Amino acid sequence: GIPKFVKIVEVGPRDGLQNEKNIVPTSVKVELIRRLVSSGLPVVEATSFVSPKWVPQLADAKDVMKAVCDIEDARLPVLTPNVKGFEAAVAAGAKEVAIFASASESFSKSNINCSIEESLARYHAVCLAAKEHSVPVRGYVSCVVGCPVEGAIPPSKVAYVAKELYDMGCFEISLADTIGVGTPGTVIPMLEAVMAAVPAEKLAVHFHDTYGQSLPNILISLQMGISTVDSSVAGLGGCPYAKGASGNVATEDVVYMLNGLGVKTNVDLAKLMLAGEFISNHLGRQSGSKTAVALCRV
Ligand code: HMG
Ligand code: MG
Repeated sequence: GIPKFVKIVEVGPRDGLQNEKNIVPTSVKVELIRRLVSSGLPVVEATSFVSPKWVPQLADAKDVMKAVCDIEDARLPVLTPNVKGFEAAVAAGAKEVAIFASASESFSKSNINCSIEESLARYHAVCLAAKEHSVPVRGYVSCVVGCPVEGAIPPSKVAYVAKELYDMGCFEISLADTIGVGTPGTVIPMLEAVMAAVPAEKLAVHFHDTYGQSLPNILISLQMGISTVDSSVAGLGGCPYAKGASGNVATEDVVYMLNGLGVKTNVDLAKLMLAGEFISNHLGRQSGSKTAVALCRV
C-alpha cells in the first residue's frame, strides 16, 4: 500500500531560484515563501547560506531569512555547506538546516569543491554545531542514480553516503536524482540498497524532471514505503553545477497525483497554484507544472 499522508518538502525558493539567470528580488522571494506557507505546505526550504561567489542568486540569504523566520505555520530549512554557513544561518534566525553530499565524486567536486570524504568531515562538524544549538539537520545525497560526468552510480555508493549522513545525526535523508535520469528501473534497486541501511521512514525522494520520470518515480517510492517528497512550485529549478539539469517535479503535479490517490498532504491546490502563478508571472514565463497549465484553462 501507499502512505495515507505524504509530507511535501517545497524546495522552489531554494532549488528553483538558485538557478534563475536573472536574480529575483528579495521581496519577491519573501512573498513567494509566504504564499507557499499559506497554501498549507509543512516545509518550505527558504534559501542557502552558501558562498555568494558560487551562487549569486541566493546572496541575500540573510535578508530573506530575517524576513521569514518568524513565520510559525511551516518549517523553513536552509542549506548550509559548512560551519561558516551554519553559523550565518542560525544568526539570521534559521531553526533548521540541510547539508548536501553526493554519491558522485565528480559532482561533489563541482558542487562543493571537495571530495565525498572531505564533505562528510565538514558535515560532521556542522552536525556537531547543530546538536549544540538543538537545530535539526536534513541530509541530501545528490546523483543517486546518475551523474553528468560519471554516468550510472552504484546503489551501494548511495547507501554508503546516506548511512554516513544518518549516522552523523540527520533526521531525514533526501535522495536526489539531480539530473533526472532515473526511471523506476534504476530507482527501485537504488531504494532497495538504501533501505537496507537507513529506515524508509527517514528517507525522502527528490526528483528533477529532466526526462519526465518524476511522477512514476515518486509513485514507486511511495509504494516502497517512503512518505516524504520534495518538489518545487511551478517546476522551478535545476542545479547551477549540474549541466542540463531541469527543474524539480512541480509541486502542483505531485499534489494533483496525491489528491487522486486519496493521499492527504494538507496542501490547498488552489492556493498553491496562486503561489505558482505569482512566481511564473514575475519570471515572465509559463508555469512548468502541467496541472497548473491545465487547471488555468478550465
Ligand atoms: P570554496 O571556494 O572551496 O570555499 O567553496 P573556501 O572555504 O575556500 O572559501 C572561499 C570563499 O567563500 C571565502 O571567501 C569564504 O569566506 C567564502 P573569500 O575569502 O574568497 O572572500 N565562504 C562562504 N561564504 C558564505 N557562506 C558560506 C561560505 N563558505 C565559504 N557558507 C563552498 C566551498 C562549499 C563554500 C562552495 O563550493 C559553495 O558555496 N557551494 C555551494 C554550491 C551550491 O549551493 N549548489 C547548489 C545547492 S546543492 C543542489 O542544488 C542539489 C540538491 O538540490 C539535491 C539535488 O538535486 O542533487 C540539494
Ligand atoms: Mg535539487
